[in-house]
Amino acid sequence: MCETTPRQGHQERAAMDHWAQILKAHWGIGANLRRLDGEYDLNFLAETGGSASYVVKAMRPGCEDWLVEMQIAAMEHLHHADPDLPSPRIIPASLGAKFLHLADEDGAERLVWMIERLPGKCYALSAPKSDALIHELGKVLGRTDKALQGFSHPQLERDFKWDLMRAGWIGTELDCIDSPDRQALLQTIHADFEAIKPALDTLPNQAIHNDANDYNILVAGPLGSPEISGLIDFGDMCTAPRICDLSIAAAYVVLDHPNPESALAALVSGYHATYPLTAQEIDLLWPLLRTRLAVSVVNSTLMAADNPDDPYVTISQAPAWRFLESYDLHPVLLAARLRAACDLPAVEGADRVLEWLDSERGNFAALMGEDLSDAPMGSLSVENSTWPQNPFDMPVEEAAHVGEEFEDNGQTWLGFYHEPRLIYTAPAFRKGPWKASDRRTVHLAVDAFAPAGRPLFAPLRGTVVVAEYREAHLDYGGVIILRHETPEADPFYTLYGHLNPEFLDRLNPGDLVERGEEFCRLGDPTMNGGWAPHVHFQLALTTEGIEADWPGVGDPDEMYLWRAICPNPAALLNLPDEKTHYAPTDKSTILDKRRAHFGGNLTLTYDDPVMLMRGWKHHLFDEWGRPYLDAYNNVPHVGHAHPRIQAVAADQLKRMNSNTRYLHPAQTAFADKILSKLPDQFEVCFFVNSGTEANELALRLARAHTGAKGIVTPDHGYHGNTTGAIAISAYKFAKPGGMGQTDWVELVEVADDYRGSFRRDVPDRAQKFADLVDPAIAALKAKGHGLSGFIAETFPSVGGQIIPPKGYLPAVYDKIRTAGGVCIADEVQTGLGRLGEHYFGFEHQGAVPDIVVMGKPIGNGHPLGVVVTTKEIAESFDNGIEFFSTFGGSTLSCRIGKEVLDIVDDEGLQENAQRMGTRLIAGLKTLQDTHPCVGDVRGMGLFLGLELTRPDGSEATEICSYVKNRMRDHRILIGSEGPKDNILKIRPPLTIEADDVDMIITTLGSILDEVALT
Ligand SMILES: Cc1ncc(COP(=O)(O)O)c(C=O)c1O
Repeated sequence: MCETTPRQGHQERAAMDHWAQILKAHWGIGANLRRLDGEYDLNFLAETGGSASYVVKAMRPGCEDWLVEMQIAAMEHLHHADPDLPSPRIIPASLGAKFLHLADEDGAERLVWMIERLPGKCYALSAPKSDALIHELGKVLGRTDKALQGFSHPQLERDFKWDLMRAGWIGTELDCIDSPDRQALLQTIHADFEAIKPALDTLPNQAIHNDANDYNILVAGPLGSPEISGLIDFGDMCTAPRICDLSIAAAYVVLDHPNPESALAALVSGYHATYPLTAQEIDLLWPLLRTRLAVSVVNSTLMAADNPDDPYVTISQAPAWRFLESYDLHPVLLAARLRAACDLPAVEGADRVLEWLDSERGNFAALMGEDLSDAPMGSLSVENSTWPQNPFDMPVEEAAHVGEEFEDNGQTWLGFYHEPRLIYTAPAFRKGPWKASDRRTVHLAVDAFAPAGRPLFAPLRGTVVVAEYREAHLDYGGVIILRHETPEADPFYTLYGHLNPEFLDRLNPGDLVERGEEFCRLGDPTMNGGWAPHVHFQLALTTEGIEADWPGVGDPDEMYLWRAICPNPAALLNLPDEKTHYAPTDKSTILDKRRAHFGGNLTLTYDDPVMLMRGWKHHLFDEWGRPYLDAYNNVPHVGHAHPRIQAVAADQLKRMNSNTRYLHPAQTAFADKILSKLPDQFEVCFFVNSGTEANELALRLARAHTGAKGIVTPDHGYHGNTTGAIAISAYKFAKPGGMGQTDWVELVEVADDYRGSFRRDVPDRAQKFADLVDPAIAALKAKGHGLSGFIAETFPSVGGQIIPPKGYLPAVYDKIRTAGGVCIADEVQTGLGRLGEHYFGFEHQGAVPDIVVMGKPIGNGHPLGVVVTTKEIAESFDNGIEFFSTFGGSTLSCRIGKEVLDIVDDEGLQENAQRMGTRLIAGLKTLQDTHPCVGDVRGMGLFLGLELTRPDGSEATEICSYVKNRMRDHRILIGSEGPKDNILKIRPPLTIEADDVDMIITTLGSILDEVALT
């Protein structure tokens, strides 16, 4: 029951007064009443002002006592049988009666009763409808049915339209549906129902709730961890097989769900966990689900005929029609999925086939004509292998060489079953519109690699079901499927892919192949789909729903299904399962080890951390090959795994890697390249290993030049993790438990014109923020410190992705220089083209610093930091003591650093940052227009922030965390920042493309919609 907008007007107020008086008089409760939804009955929410609230139910006039009695008895039975079930308690009237006959405001007699109000909102109006939540719903329903087992009431046996066992009534009413297509669809569903009716009739009956629709399920809990808080409205109870109850819940759970199959698996496995189902019951779910939706649309169509002016009737049908018309799931494949989700044999006889295969292990004819016990395994997994270089594109040349590292003079080697691989790059493997959409990666067969032409021998007798040639690049080429039977006549199937199609002349469907018969040969890349010669050898326990088109690889998140249908074929190769089964490194083991061996303040991003194994440009892949759009990491500036970086690194490591005590042209070439990007007064470079080290050095340069120590720096800044860098990083030292502010550092307010002291409506806010530097300099002087300088991230990043108002830095620099200090620009976040319009952030401000610090992106992942300054400052530092950083400016670092800067130019990445940044900002601004929690969109190029706020304008930290984690669920990595951690930080590698930007905007929009619902 959901709240409706209170109707206004005198009559409504009078009605409320009437019911409030009844409540006071008969229940002794003074409360404010609000009307709730109800089809025929009056329902009121009664709030007492304290913690208690109730639902008052005034049944339709003429309602018979049994209907209320039955519900009350059922609810009391439930509380007795399973006291922790989230179902409402009955609140008896003052004199103990559980319901009363009372007059409504018009004098009509109604049955009135009251129940406790459970927390939460309707499932229909909640978001997200995660598999975890749906699984819990299944559990609650299972517990409810289990508890209702012993309940009986004479009226449970009544004849009414919502009893799914009597759904046959729609058969005579289908004429009411105008569209012939829809009528035909309902006829099929009706016929399917009649076909399963005899099986249904054999199942035991019990009392069931019978209406777990999405308005009778309540959901409550904090953002991100909703729970089922109630199952309400027992008015439609009846006796029926329990699978009817589950099917009704299922019929609502699938509506407008993006992945109905996984939702159903979650629901059914939840139910099974609390009230175990049989496989036969599970098989009935799909036809019953469709029948329930058919009953629903027929019923509302008939009602519409009676109420032609009520548009609600048609609107309410729409999701059911959408589902019925767009999801014609294969009943056997779906049943296999649901059975597998409950750990039951996926198809009838599957357990017997597996047992038989196991018992015959060692007795099958040798597929490759040789004993494979000692054949080496070669892993092509995401974590062990780098095939293919570009996980989005496997060119012909690469495919033909896959696994060549395992090749040893034509000796047979085997590829793993259950191994996630990135070699399946064709669009057919992708499951959504984006590059980072889920894709199928997990190999469902064993591969045997051997030279082309090698003959294959049938492991056992079989009948040819498929003998075809599939010519597409990366398809099977020649492929054969055989059907086999166990001695008990249980069927199973084997598939042989990547064959030489010469067998087409000999083999036809229906032909028998005898055990040990040579029946085909390995193809070469010109005829086997383009691959290095091998056979893909797959076992399937059914072909229903996959027919001739077996998936050779599965979605890692659906392996519960594919492992059950296409198990490890090792037995047929006379091998132990363990030899051919691959298990990726278990994330939770790494997590445990990390906790054991690393400090607790080495934090992980996301509630469900990601383990990343491969990357390409602005995408990353986890251990299962799931792709993620990297919209957060600025270190891989020119993209992950850039081939040119790989090449220079490998090339230099082959030669030698030394330090700046020796001459090498790479050092000066790198310096020349950097200086070419800076104003002329910058003439001297220092190479170090990190941004931190670069900032430390910048402080030393400033001190050497000024002879003073005092530093002015904006609040919430970050410059690194060493003692000196922390001292100038309020983001660290000012945190609870931080080392606190040193006396030689003075903070000024960040020039944040969204939330700071001077907002965007203050025309001279740049000057006003800059003026804050004066008292800071004075404070240093008062403490006895001279001014060494001013250091700032040009655009404060951890402070919240802030773009200071134009003119701020020049005004600050003037004041600093006048007071004798030097100006340090920390361009670690903003430099090297990220801002699109500018190569460095200070250019945007029209300011020229004295020292520029670079880090992170300049090495694209290789540890590298750079300080650039004027000759004058460098000379002040050159006091006779050697400056040396062992690895800073190593030959390798210099070559990588220069290559990064060259790539930015050669690939037009600064221009791309501008184009993609403009597209992102435009998209984010449209989200701001439609989502009130987006307070501010700011940034430049690919340095962007989205400030999330509560309705009162305060920082929405919890929403920010929710959105960041949900984006990760949707395979997009972004971060969060700001003093209150309420700013989403988007800062991808500069290679990001328009499609990826659109994925960010679309996904973010849908998650912000969820926030609006919660
Ligand atoms: C602006 C800024 N400066 C300096 C650093 C320190 O760089 P590193 O971690 O490479 O030492 C960081 C790191 O996040 C940074 O964001």
